[in-house]
Amino acid sequence: MIAIGSDHGGVVLKEAIKEFLKQNGYEFKDFGTQPGVPMDYPDIAETVANSVVSGECDKGILVCGTGIGVSIAANKVKGIRAAHVTDVFSAKMAKEHNDAHIICLGERITGPGLALEIVRAYLEAEHLGGRHGRRVDKIMAIEDRQN
Ligand code: RB5
Repeated sequence: MIAIGSDHGGVVLKEAIKEFLKQNGYEFKDFGTQPGVPMDYPDIAETVANSVVSGECDKGILVCGTGIGVSIAANKVKGIRAAHVTDVFSAKMAKEHNDAHIICLGERITGPGLALEIVRAYLEAEHLGGRHGRRVDKIMAIEDRQN
């Protein structure tokens, strides 16, 4: 199950991503916002990130105006690795190397055609493990040392 969410600055792209997910047979849960309904990006980022941490969803896609706000906020949720991506190669690497739980996109930055290819690349990628897994473990160890 893929969690998807946006603030008002990302809702048009979120709706386009939902259509893409439907057409490609992916199951998803839309946590909002709905068109015309304002939403502060930290709120939707926390909701989507929590849905992944709890196991309700396997991965997530967040959208705001730039993708920056939702990525900063989602990464504050313990256990979450959220990657702000603006190109297809980075989207693939976000999964293969960083095992990102969530990708973050900016509606005002990335056009819909590229954004959908980014989503495709992320969803089709697999984490490579091995030395990349060791480095991901080191990321999480940093988080553990903070608490
Ligand atoms: C909302 O206006 C805008 O600040 C938000 O969508 C996002 O770009 C924040 O990082």
